[in-house]
Amino acid sequence: MIWQLSSLFSSIAHANGTFMPPDGDTIAPLYDHLYLVMVLMSAIASLIVIGGMVYFSIKYRRQTGRKSAYITHNTTLEFLWSFIPFCLFMVAFGWGWYVYYQMRTMPEDAFEVNVLAQQWSWNFMYKSGKKTTADMYVPVNTPVRLIMTSKDVIHSMYIPAFRQKQDVVPGRYTQTWFQAPHVGNFHIFCAEYCGMGHSAMLGIVHVLSKADFDKWLETNPYKGLTPVQVGQHLFQQKCSVCHNPTTERKVGPGLQHVFGSMVQLQGQPPHLADENYIRTHILHPSTYSVQGFPKGVMPSFQGQLSEEELTGLIEYVKSLK
Ligand code: CUA
Repeated sequence: MIWQLSSLFSSIAHANGTFMPPDGDTIAPLYDHLYLVMVLMSAIASLIVIGGMVYFSIKYRRQTGRKSAYITHNTTLEFLWSFIPFCLFMVAFGWGWYVYYQMRTMPEDAFEVNVLAQQWSWNFMYKSGKKTTADMYVPVNTPVRLIMTSKDVIHSMYIPAFRQKQDVVPGRYTQTWFQAPHVGNFHIFCAEYCGMGHSAMLGIVHVLSKADFDKWLETNPYKGLTPVQVGQHLFQQKCSVCHNPTTERKVGPGLQHVFGSMVQLQGQPPHLADENYIRTHILHPSTYSVQGFPKGVMPSFQGQLSEEELTGLIEYVKSLK
């Protein structure tokens, strides 16, 4: 138990000494240094205050016959205990402002990725026309700027290794930037409660070498895959937050054995689950309301899927016999 705790402890306390995930971008070390100094300053201040309190309460405890002198004030002491903290706070403010300024000043020649957040996935769009869900790919040692908006509610793009968090708001664009100095994979979280699937709204930033990135940007991800395989890949990225490929219900119904069955609807006659039914469900989910499930929970995927991808998803649902 102790051993497990200490190994957990040392795996959290990385080389940066701050209990943060390893540095993934150029801001992270700036942030960590400031954080470390703030923690040290707070620790020293706590020691002085609590240590002083304990020391004085013992030294000047009540003793019969002892009476304290009448002291009105001490100008030097009062000046020092105000001026020294003031200087420390100004250092923290100036330093914090400097790091924040680096974070919020967008480089002009950055590689741009458009981000669309929705309940409950991260979607990335590249200038080459390539789109991904959950996985963001970026080149190493290149400033990357994210231009982000939301389709429904407020989400928040949070990448702990980059020390970056930015709200993603419907109806406007927010932005953030980073430059990753090493190749690697880093977690993306949604840090704003956005409904039932919030905790499953995850992703990965893949930082690739420039050559690998250029290759990735050009390749068709579905080359050589059957429609069912395309659908399975998409299902895992886009649908599995809410639907199981088994009969077990999640947020929405489990999809096994659905295709070809008569689906019981609320306030509508039962409907045969054929290709058009699945297609309508993906693009215009409010058309049908399945019995036993709350209405209006499923988001629309209109405009986010190519015909090839739609067909793949339908074929995949069909294959869940
Ligand atoms: Cu999106 Cu929480």
